[in-house]
Amino acid sequence: MRKNYLLTRRGLLCLCLGTLASIGTLAKSTAFNNQVRDFTAVGEASLKERAAAKGLIYGSVGKYRTLSSDAEFSSRFPQECAMLVASNELKWRGIRPSPDRFDFTKGDWLAEFASRHNMLFRGHTLVWHNGLPEWFQEKVNSQNAERMLVDHIKKVAGHYAGKIHSWDVVNEAVYPTHGRAEGLRDSPWLEFLGLDYIELAFRAAREADPKALLVYNENHLWYEGQLRANTPTGEAKRTAVLKLLERLKSKGTPIDVLGIQGHLRGHQLDQLHPKKLRAFLTDVANLDLKIMVTELDVRDHKLPKDIDVRDRLVAKAYEDFLSVVLDEPAVMAVFTWGLSDRDTWLSRVARRKDGLPVRPLPLDAQLNRKLAWNAMARAFDNAPMR
Ligand code: G3I
Repeated sequence: MRKNYLLTRRGLLCLCLGTLASIGTLAKSTAFNNQVRDFTAVGEASLKERAAAKGLIYGSVGKYRTLSSDAEFSSRFPQECAMLVASNELKWRGIRPSPDRFDFTKGDWLAEFASRHNMLFRGHTLVWHNGLPEWFQEKVNSQNAERMLVDHIKKVAGHYAGKIHSWDVVNEAVYPTHGRAEGLRDSPWLEFLGLDYIELAFRAAREADPKALLVYNENHLWYEGQLRANTPTGEAKRTAVLKLLERLKSKGTPIDVLGIQGHLRGHQLDQLHPKKLRAFLTDVANLDLKIMVTELDVRDHKLPKDIDVRDRLVAKAYEDFLSVVLDEPAVMAVFTWGLSDRDTWLSRVARRKDGLPVRPLPLDAQLNRKLAWNAMARAFDNAPMR
């Protein structure tokens, strides 16, 4: 009798397989059920055309490496995008091989490519704690930091003056859990120059390029929980960013735009709190600032392997996020952090355990439109007119 209540090895195996099967069914039918959402997009118009019809700009990161070597990708890119965003080529590490040498080769190639295809060009980023060259640590100190920073901005923003639509002047400066004054992040710039380095950077950028829109760019503003232990919640980030923006505006700092990065996670869709995010956008707009979504993509590395289920959840993330954000009239542009799954940073940093390629962007690796593309198209079509 007792044996009936014990799990034999075979029984255990059956139970495990059964459980896995039911998780698979669950993934398709309940927990990840997204089949009801109809992602139909009407017509064949491109993302840039749909965005423009509402007074918005759509663009994407396009890497020098890919655009200069992949003819299929480089001819598809301008069909969907009205703006080319530089991702790494204009960072300190990409453009300043030594303290006294600037290498504009790749940036100039991108600027020329954008102009040849009637696209706007966007710069990222003049001040960041990351993306710094190897020589930085040895050569930059509190004595020379101001000169290094201001010279850098004048040289780089000056070089592209007249060719750049907007610059991410300062990137990711807020990190409340570091416990610093004003919620700022530990960074060499804060250490060497104190709280005012942000204002200093914006003033230098305006002087170097009076026409470019100047952006403060920040991550995880949409996210309610903590990404990891000791990371700030979205709420803490939003509060600290708002304080920073208020302070900059009250000092007359030449800042035009808040950039909301939007690296979303398909497995954490419940982290989006539409009302809180929407209220934050109103608060930003009330400071007389424009808003851009600057680095949109959706991680799918923890989603089920079934491509249909996965694509639907990724599309849902795009549509849910964009429908909240585009409701705010101050939002003027949306940029994805890549156009095609052929070329995404997530295939390096957020790989799937099953080894399948990740699918975080609007076009698949063959450059076909996916449901994520449909979701973006629908979000643009449904957005209020600017
Ligand atoms: O240049 C080398 C190349 O020679 C080498 O073959 C290759 C091997 O992995 O590495 C190349 O450099 C990498 C570079 O990306 C180009 O792929 C760097 O190691 C790597 O650190 C760099 O990562 C970039 C990261 O910023 C740091 O700059 C990512 O591509 C880029 O997507 C990421 O972008 C950031 C934004 O700037 C700010 N917001 C968050 C976003 C994602 O982290």
